[in-house]
Amino acid sequence: MIVGKNANKAYPKLLIVCEIFGLLSVILSGLFFDKKLYASKYVYNWNTNPFSYHPLMMTLGLLFCYGNAILLYRTLKSTPKLIAKILHASLLIVSLVLAIVGFVAIVRSKNLGKRPHFMSFHSWLGLTTLILFALQWICGFISFLVPQLSLNIRKAYMPSHRLWGKIIFLSAVVAILTGLSEYGYGSSFFTANDAEQDRRLIMNFFGVFTSLFSLFVIYLLSNSDYQRPPDEHIEK
Ligand code: HEM
Repeated sequence: MIVGKNANKAYPKLLIVCEIFGLLSVILSGLFFDKKLYASKYVYNWNTNPFSYHPLMMTLGLLFCYGNAILLYRTLKSTPKLIAKILHASLLIVSLVLAIVGFVAIVRSKNLGKRPHFMSFHSWLGLTTLILFALQWICGFISFLVPQLSLNIRKAYMPSHRLWGKIIFLSAVVAILTGLSEYGYGSSFFTANDAEQDRRLIMNFFGVFTSLFSLFVIYLLSNSDYQRPPDEHIEK
């Protein structure tokens, strides 16, 4: 673990590596249904193939935007606290909206295929993650922004807000990885036939970069030397 003054210097470098992994993960999830790569066999189409939007929206929203939102106080250490709070809440709202689009996409896809809902562990975990995320956002907004509760209540609530923020991120990561396995193993490109080997590689590397991004996010969150120092005068 990097400590003390070295930690301040290390944070931006580690963050860049973390962002590269996160961007690679988003790009690879975008390639699952890329028209040019797959000669229109797998395409983005809200009307005929709404599922195509599910992995991309979830990865962009719940992995990349959410991961960056929970790192934001550390990334913008010297930005005034109120601005950091507003940016944190805004990035989380973008993340929630993208996740809702991803959720509507899968529900629509199942309705079109007349398939039953909420049968798998992935779907239970995914739905739980979305509900917890919406509740956490509402509690955080009321406590820290509008109407903003008393300093004592905010101080008492803060450890739970931090803990649940990490739990929600981890459950989103597990939901992505279980979704990936479920989709992959039910697909023709995970058979002995190598004709679609590139698609299989895209999916596997998506799993690798998703895991690496989440490991970096958790590492950057768990090192207290990267934490923003408390500014009590602004808090009051
Ligand atoms: C945090 C990210 C994710 C969340 C919150 C999530 C959430 C959900 C939910 C709630 C369902 C059930 C919908 C229903 O039954 O009506 C579902 C289904 C599904 N998801 Fe995801 N998902 C995520 C990521 C992914 C990814 C990355 C993939 C694939 C690469 C994926 C593949 C699937 C598949 C194949 C289904 C249909 C089978 C099933 O119901 O389990 N998901 N997802």
